[in-house]
Amino acid sequence: MAVQAFQKHEVIPDVLKTAPLKVAKVVYDSGVEVNLGAELTPTQVKNPPTVTWEANPEALYCLVLTDPDAPTRADPKWREWHHWIVANIPGCDVSKGDVFAEYVGAGPPEKTGLHRYVFVVYKQAGKLANPEYGRLKNNSTQHRNEFKTQLFAEKNGLGDPIAGNFFQAQYDDYVPQLYKQFTAKY
Ligand SMILES: *[C@@H]1O[C@H](CO)[C@@H](O)[C@H](O)[C@H]1NC(C)=O
Ligand SMILES: *[C@@H]1O[C@H](CO)[C@@H](O)[C@H](O)[C@H]1NC(C)=O
Repeated sequence: MAVQAFQKHEVIPDVLKTAPLKVAKVVYDSGVEVNLGAELTPTQVKNPPTVTWEANPEALYCLVLTDPDAPTRADPKWREWHHWIVANIPGCDVSKGDVFAEYVGAGPPEKTGLHRYVFVVYKQAGKLANPEYGRLKNNSTQHRNEFKTQLFAEKNGLGDPIAGNFFQAQYDDYVPQLYKQFTAKY
């Protein structure tokens, strides 16, 4: 089921070469749940969700949330803009992982249509080192764009994703508020 949805919405090949076999469960405190491409609003996804998957509690995992449709799906010249990266997660307790990039909610600009927001979970073979830029904060957009999930996975020897999910979202009136959180100057 996950594989078909990832193919139908072209997450394969736009983000990944291989679809995850399992669905990651992603629940927001607004009461919505991510469901293989179904549309949600920026308002509904403003806070970090609870993400769980079928995990071995002895193993470490890495979670990525990425938007391949920046600034638009038709002209994705900044593909991808990553919204969240947590590595070294023991089992599926994301709160115990190392945050490489703090969660930033969906902020699709006005009149750019639907963007896809893709959650990808990898099983790590060992511990991942701190990233080049340290922990990216949620008050800056720096080093978020032109990310490639597939390359990140290859560089870190993560293999194929083991679980995933995605939603789509377009502009709503929460987006200007989200942009106000980017107070950090370059
Ligand atoms: C930004 O991240 C900090 C933790 O580093 C958190 O306390 C804060 O609520 C976050 N702000 C937003 C707008 O998400
Ligand atoms: C951004 O957030 C970090 C901590 O999360 C803080 O140290 C820094 O001062 C903030 N920058 C601005 C410009 O608000």
